[in-house]
Amino acid sequence: MSVVIIGGGNAGLQVADMLRRRGYDQSITLLCEENHLPYQRPPLSKKFLEGALDEVRLTLRPEKFYQDRSIDVKLGTTVTHINRHEKSVLTDGGETLAYEHLVIATGARPRALPGHEGRGDLFFIRTIDDIHHLKAALPGKKSALLVGGGFIGLEAAATLTVLGLKTTVVEAMPSIMPGLVAPELAAFFKSEHEARGTTIIEGVSVSNVDSKPDGGFSAMLSDGRTLEADLVVVGIGVIPNTEIAEAAGISCDRGILVDEYARTQDPFVYAVGDCATGVVTRYEGRTRLESVQNAVSQASVAALSIVGEATPYRDLPWFWSDQYDLKLQMAGLSRGYDQTVLRGTIADRSFSICYFKSGDLIAIDSVNAIKDHMAVKKLLDGNINITPEQCADVETPLKTWV
Ligand code: APR
Repeated sequence: MSVVIIGGGNAGLQVADMLRRRGYDQSITLLCEENHLPYQRPPLSKKFLEGALDEVRLTLRPEKFYQDRSIDVKLGTTVTHINRHEKSVLTDGGETLAYEHLVIATGARPRALPGHEGRGDLFFIRTIDDIHHLKAALPGKKSALLVGGGFIGLEAAATLTVLGLKTTVVEAMPSIMPGLVAPELAAFFKSEHEARGTTIIEGVSVSNVDSKPDGGFSAMLSDGRTLEADLVVVGIGVIPNTEIAEAAGISCDRGILVDEYARTQDPFVYAVGDCATGVVTRYEGRTRLESVQNAVSQASVAALSIVGEATPYRDLPWFWSDQYDLKLQMAGLSRGYDQTVLRGTIADRSFSICYFKSGDLIAIDSVNAIKDHMAVKKLLDGNINITPEQCADVETPLKTWV
C-alpha cells in the first residue's frame, strides 16, 4: 500500500498532511518538480516581489514536518509517465515508483503570449524562481508593461509601482478583471491604480513584443499603438498541467476531470488543485478553481476518499487579491448573476458588492470590509438567503442574519 502524489504545490502537500491526520500509516511519496519544498504562491506577486518577505517565510512546512510524518519528499523530480496498468509512475531520473493510490496535483503553468513561446526575456509570476529572475532584472529599470489585467497583472503593477517603476497594464477585454468581478468594482480598482500613476489600457491586446537592440522592449498593441517599456511581465492566465494524465488515458477537459470525491474515471487515481476540473456539490456542472481554498478543500476530499471516509466536496469557494492597501475578498461564485447590490460607499474605500441570481444571494466581493465577507461566507455556507434590501442596509450588520 502506498500513495504517490505528483506535484509539490499546496494541494500536493495538503493531501499528504491530511492522509497522516486521518491515520494513513503506509508510505507517502511527494514528487516535486521544483527544487523547493511546497510554498505559498500568493505572496509572489506582492510582498515577495517587493522584497518585504523572506523566502523562508514562503515555505508552507519546514523539512522537519515531512521527516516527523515519514513523508518522502523528492525535490527536482518530474514524473514523465503514468502506467495505470502496472500502477506505477516513472520519473525523469529513471525511477519507477509503485502506487496503490495516485494523486495528480500538477498545478498549472503561465500561458505564454501567443507567438512568443519560449521567450526567456519576458517575465512570468508563478514560481519562486520566476521572482528571483524578475528581481535580478529590476536594478536600473524605470518602466514595466504588464500584459493582462487579471489578478497577476494588477498585483504586479501595484508592487512594481511601489518599487518606483512607471507601470502600464494592457487588458484585452473591455475592463480589467473581466468576468471576475462586477463592472463597478473593476472601475473602482482602475481608478485606484490610475491614482498611483499606473496607465490602464482596456479593450486592447498586446499582439507582439520586440526586444530593442539597445535594451528594453517595444510592444505592438491591437489598436496599432506601440508601447515602450524596460521590462515586460506576462500575466494572461494559466494552462493546467494535464499532459501526463492525458497520455495515460485519463479524461481531461481543460483540466483533469474529477467527481465530487476528487476521483478521475480510474478509481485509484485522483486529481486536486489547479490541474483538476471538479464538482463542487453546491454548484451545477464542473469547475476548475484556481485558488488556495480549492487546493486545500479538494486535497482534503481526496485524502478522505483514500482512507475510506469519502465525503463530497461542498466547501464554499473563496478567493482574495491584495492590491496596495485594498483587500479584495470574494466568496461564492458570482457567475450568472442578474443583480448587484452595493453595501456601503465606494468613496470610503470600504464596501461590498453582493451578487444575486433570481433573488438569491450567490456571492459577495468585499473591499476592506472583512466583516461583510465573513458574514456572507457563513450565510452562503448555511444556504441562508437574505434580500437585496437587507444587503444594502449598512445599519444592520450582515451577521445578524446568520
Ligand atoms: N493582451 C492583453 N491582455 C490579455 C491578452 C493579451 N494578448 N491575452 C489575455 N489577456 C487578459 C485576459 O483577458 C485576462 O483578463 O489577461 C488576463 C489574465 O487574467 P487571468 O486569466 O485571471 O490570469 P492571471 O492574472 O495570469 O492569473 C493566473 O494566478 O493569482 C492567480 O488567481 C490567479 O489563478 C490565477 C492565476
